[in-house]
Amino acid sequence: MSRRLNANRTVGVEKNLWVEFTQLAAAYNTVNLGQGFPDFSPPKFVTEAFCNAVSGGALMHQYTRGFVSGFICQRAVPISNILVTVGAYQALFSAFQALIDEGDEVIIIEPFFDCYQPMVMMAGGKPVYIPLRPVIEGGAVRSSGDWVLCPDELASKFTPRTKAIVINTPNNPIGKVYKTEELQMIADLCVKHDVLCISDEVYEWLTYDGAKHVKIASLPGMWERTITIGSGGKTFSATGWKVGWAISSGHIIKHMKTIHQNTVYHCATPAQEAVAQGFEREHELFGTPESYFQQLPAMLHRKRDKLASLLESVGLTPIMPEGGYFMTADFSSLKVDYKDQSSSDEPNDFRFVKWLIKTKGLATIPVSAFYSPEHSKDFEKYIRFCFVKEDSTLDAAADILRKWSEGQ
Ligand SMILES: Cc1ncc(COP(=O)(O)O)c(C=O)c1O
Repeated sequence: MSRRLNANRTVGVEKNLWVEFTQLAAAYNTVNLGQGFPDFSPPKFVTEAFCNAVSGGALMHQYTRGFVSGFICQRAVPISNILVTVGAYQALFSAFQALIDEGDEVIIIEPFFDCYQPMVMMAGGKPVYIPLRPVIEGGAVRSSGDWVLCPDELASKFTPRTKAIVINTPNNPIGKVYKTEELQMIADLCVKHDVLCISDEVYEWLTYDGAKHVKIASLPGMWERTITIGSGGKTFSATGWKVGWAISSGHIIKHMKTIHQNTVYHCATPAQEAVAQGFEREHELFGTPESYFQQLPAMLHRKRDKLASLLESVGLTPIMPEGGYFMTADFSSLKVDYKDQSSSDEPNDFRFVKWLIKTKGLATIPVSAFYSPEHSKDFEKYIRFCFVKEDSTLDAAADILRKWSEGQ
C-alpha cells in the first residue's frame, strides 16, 4: 500500500506495559508477582453456575440483553442504568468514546491504570494529570492512605474545557481507598465546573484494616454525572471471563449503549449468567461468614501481610495498601547494582524490575509506568507486587527473597 496505513488515533499509544513485561517474565521462567490476576480458581459457586449455564439449554448460547442485579447499586434500574460490557476495560472504552470529544480535557489522577491515557487519546481528548503525592509526617511513608491530592493543585486543573475526571478507588497500583472527605472535594469540583466523573471501582469489595469503600456516585449531585465501573473478573476471581459493567444515570448510559451496540453489541451469555448467579448468592449471604465478599478480603489480608514482611526482610519498604490486589514497595535504600548497560536509557524502576527478572527470577511491575512523562521521574523508586496469588507462589517468592538476603 503506498498511502499511509494506520489511522492517527493509533499514533503515540503503541506501547503496552503488559505486553513487554509479560513476555519478559515468561522468557525467564519467573515467579510472577507482576500481572494482576489470581493464580487460584474462582469460588465453586460461580464455576458451577458457569457449567450449569453452558449445559442449560439453547438460549444460554445465544445473544442476550445484559444481566442485571439491584445488588451492585440499589438505585440502578436494570436496562436503563446498567450496561454490561466485555470487562471493565470495555466499560471504560465505551465511556470515553461516548462522552469525550476532540479537544476535551480529561483529568487523570496518578498513579493510574495504564489504559486510561490511550483511551482518552483515541477519543480525541487531552489527558491532564495530577499526582497523588506521599505526605510524610514523622518518618517513612508506610500506608497508601499517606498518598493524597493537593486540593489547590486539583482545583487548578479544572478549566472550561474539562469534560471529565477519572478516579480509581481502591487504586491500582498503590491500593489507596479514598476517604469520604477526599471524594467530597472531587465531587464539589465536578459539580462546580459541571464535569463528569468516571469512577473505576473494580476492587470495591477488597478493603483492609477497616478502610471503607465509598461510591462517589452516592454523594449529593454526583449520581447524574458519575459513571461507576465494575468487574466480574475482579469480584469473583475470574478475570478471564471478561464480564464488566458501567452504572450511571439513564441520560449517560444511553450514549454508552450507542457505542456498545455499534462495537461489540453483546457479551458472552454463560459468563454473564454465572456472574449474575454469583451476585444473587452474595446478596443472600451478605454480611455472613459464608459470603465471598468476606472470605476473599480476609484471605487477601493475610497474603498482604505475609508479602509485606517478606519485602521488609530484604530491605524493601512496603507501602501497605488499604485495598485492592497490589502492594508497592520503595527499593531506594537497597545496596545492589542493578544498572546494567543494556538498559541505560530506561527509568530506574524499569532497570530494577528487569534486573529482578533476569538475575533473581522474580517478576514485578515498575510504578513509574503508571505516571505521565511529566511526573514519572519522581516515582522511579517504587515497584508493584501482586499478592492475589496461591500461598505456594508467595512461598516461591519468599525463597527467592530469602536467598537474596542471605547473599546467595
Ligand atoms: C483499575 C483497573 N481497572 C480496570 C481493569 C480491567 O478490568 P477487566 O479485567 O474487568 O477488564 C483492571 C484490571 O487489572 C484494573 O486494575
